[in-house]
Amino acid sequence: MFKDLWTRRAGLVEADLLKELRRTESLDENLMRAMEYSLMAGGKRLRPILLMAAADASGGAGEKFITIADALELIHTYSLIHDDLPAMDDDDYRRGKLTNHKVFGEAMAILAGDALLTLAFEVALRQRDVPHEILLTVLREISIAAGAAGMVGGQAIDLCSEGVQIDLTMLKFMHMGKTGALFRAAIRSGALLAQASEKILNDLTRYAEAFGLAFQITDDILDVTGDTKVLGKATGSDAKHGKATYVSLTSLDEAKRLAQAAVDEALDALKDFGSEADFLRELVRYLVAREK
Ligand code: IPE
Ligand code: IPE
Ligand code: MG
Ligand code: MG
Ligand code: MG
Repeated sequence: MFKDLWTRRAGLVEADLLKELRRTESLDENLMRAMEYSLMAGGKRLRPILLMAAADASGGAGEKFITIADALELIHTYSLIHDDLPAMDDDDYRRGKLTNHKVFGEAMAILAGDALLTLAFEVALRQRDVPHEILLTVLREISIAAGAAGMVGGQAIDLCSEGVQIDLTMLKFMHMGKTGALFRAAIRSGALLAQASEKILNDLTRYAEAFGLAFQITDDILDVTGDTKVLGKATGSDAKHGKATYVSLTSLDEAKRLAQAAVDEALDALKDFGSEADFLRELVRYLVAREK
């Protein structure tokens, strides 16, 4: 049931994203191809899934908000294209395919990222049947999370920390930004769109923060223990670039223990929910045990 719902909703998001791309006009065909190449390369579609699951857990009907969910995937995909650039992580594979700049060149990859980010807001504004005030609140939440106070800020700390000793507090802060912020915005947006009570919003925010941490610690672990073929991206990339990660700062075992602690915290945040939060419970358990 859990995996089926995930697969079904990921399929809905993919179909919707393709539809959005088809209706988007571009002055340059190559740019359009570069955007589609990364967006349609697969991926777990986690941020959209989380938005919908959070809306469900808040008593709403998650799929109603698919348009905002699509926007999150557009932002996420842009962040991956830029993250892989030679000036950043310099990676050659992503989602089981050559990275965007390897196929289209660096300049076009930068522009494809820019265009996907911008498209996200155009798409989000197409969300129907949501009061304008709520739509504005959600868009503000997503804008802040994607920018200097969130994902981009975390990426900046990540790059400045290459080859530098930082402590665990700083590492956690960096993770909360580069990965956590978008997850947090996805979950809070789902709750806000479903007009959740203050208590539900707070509990889901706590879940989101723990989820983000568990997810990025696992990403750090997989960079060491993962199988490139399954993962769809190269392993060993972090060590090669002297990245500060949970594994480099502690140990593999300690990183696993900290990931599990974050899962426990996420589950605890859901203690007052009933079966409407079962998907979120299963998701966080699954994601620390994942292989991709
Ligand atoms: C990878 O995110 C980048 C991080 C934030 C660690 P995902 O693991 O969600 O990547 P896709 O979307 O499934 O490819
Ligand atoms: C990147 O984190 C997070 C983003 C904002 C894209 P990583 O650099 O660890 O992600 P991967 O391992 O390349 O997917
Ligand atoms: Mg990176
Ligand atoms: Mg990277
Ligand atoms: Mg990584």
